[in-house]
Amino acid sequence: MKKLWYKNAIVYSLDVETFMDSDGDGIGDFQGLTKCLDHLSGIGITCLWLLPFYPSPNRDNGYDVMDYYNVDPRLGTLGDFVEFMHQARERGIRVIVDLVVNHTSIQHPWFQAARKDKHSKYRDFYVWSENPPKFEPKLLMFPNVEDSIWEYDAQAGAYYLHHFYKEQPDLNISNPAVREEICKIMGFWLELGVSGFRIDAAPFLIKGIGIKSADREDLQGFLSEMREFVSSRRGDAVLLAEANVPPEQISAYFGKGDKMHMLFNFLLNQYMFLALARREACILQDGLKTLPDLPGICQWLNFVRHHDELALDRLSQTQQEEVFQAFAPDENMRIYEHGIRRRLPPMMNGERRRIELVYSLMFSLPGTPLLRYGEEIGMGEDLSLPGRNSVRTPMQWSDAPNGGFSNAPANALVRSVIAEGEYGYQRVNVATEQRDPNSLINWMERLIRTRKQCQELGIGSWQILETDEPCVFAHCCESQRAVVVLHNLADRACSVTLKLQDDKCLIDVFGDRQYEPLNNDSGSIPLEAYGYRWFWMNQM
Ligand code: GLC
Repeated sequence: MKKLWYKNAIVYSLDVETFMDSDGDGIGDFQGLTKCLDHLSGIGITCLWLLPFYPSPNRDNGYDVMDYYNVDPRLGTLGDFVEFMHQARERGIRVIVDLVVNHTSIQHPWFQAARKDKHSKYRDFYVWSENPPKFEPKLLMFPNVEDSIWEYDAQAGAYYLHHFYKEQPDLNISNPAVREEICKIMGFWLELGVSGFRIDAAPFLIKGIGIKSADREDLQGFLSEMREFVSSRRGDAVLLAEANVPPEQISAYFGKGDKMHMLFNFLLNQYMFLALARREACILQDGLKTLPDLPGICQWLNFVRHHDELALDRLSQTQQEEVFQAFAPDENMRIYEHGIRRRLPPMMNGERRRIELVYSLMFSLPGTPLLRYGEEIGMGEDLSLPGRNSVRTPMQWSDAPNGGFSNAPANALVRSVIAEGEYGYQRVNVATEQRDPNSLINWMERLIRTRKQCQELGIGSWQILETDEPCVFAHCCESQRAVVVLHNLADRACSVTLKLQDDKCLIDVFGDRQYEPLNNDSGSIPLEAYGYRWFWMNQM
């Protein structure tokens, strides 16, 4: 099989603005990030996904772009970006960047030209209506913040479409000129060395809601056009789509292997949290079975948390309620209708063995694992910050003021650092944890190393293994070799038996503790409460 790098990448996402400030203005920047590359290569990261770093009025954390061809001056210059790319490449780290082209910022020159002049060539870059049609409330991405997807613009004398904030007018993807611009943007960043794009809000791109002339097939075809373009410019570049859609719609994004290479695994993520809440393995089994088979080159990107809310919208109302009760009991921990605005460690009450269980599980599920900055050290959230900012606090590097993120006065920081309590930077930070052999960061490093050694998890075919304990999720991924992985979701120790072929034995690779080597005659495998074990399956 062709070597497909993304199938066994260790992806790490970060926002330049909150990672490391090099010039003391309180805002993270590319020079700061470049200095931190050794940390990332040290823990074994092989691919970075950068959140939007383009010039932006920042109504939506940079997801409102006003210039696709530049770096936000607060974060550095294009020169700093190129130097960063060079240094990342030197360390064997690839870079994927966010491509936010479902919408622009209202301040983008295209929108400014479009609203001023009906006859401007940019008018048709956006979606206008003099009489906006009725829309389904579920189309509101930020309920309670926006009450419509149409906004009247006095200058234009018409309403424009916006699925997200009203400061983010949707682009008209059925317009060939817009598609050409999008390809040009991708071409630009590919020339600067990026290995692909995270396609923001992909479903809105291809659904054509509000576009009168929209032809569904034509819009979906744009995903193939993007793919063709990207592959022609750089054969190993990948497209990773953000598409939280029901299982039956997934094929629209993967196609026959001729559209997106990767999709975030929103479904499995939600099933995982339900399984953790219920401590029942069958939920995860159902989750895996619900996923469609993927064309050979396609891949899931698995994650625990990312920069947005933990969405639960693929679960039923009662299932959502169970997850809320278990992991976000207070109203203030929730956001929008189906979301949780927390990081993992506080959701697990800071219990180390449960935190390990979740990452061990996510890293071993079929697909490619994604970590988000701060997960390697167990950062918490700040619920006093509004909305999704609770999980977007600056990276905690040391116990120096501001967690070593910046030399600026604390009140000048782009966002406050967590400075108190169990998750304060005085306790949770890179430098302190690096000195402690039992810290989360050192455990995470071992997890990453093990995942790299078990490439079957990224490329193999998977199979659910039946056990005699409903709380134990067991699966196997196999290509040339086979990896068997067991996770005990329950708060009590147990032993399970697996039905293996007579000539096969299991060799421990990784686990929550050092277990006695298995006695293959008894066939019984002990697991601690919340325990996990990874094995090679060998021929006897
Ligand atoms: C994506 C981003 C989110 C942003 C939205 C609008 O969902 O992840 O942060 O608000 O798109 O661009």
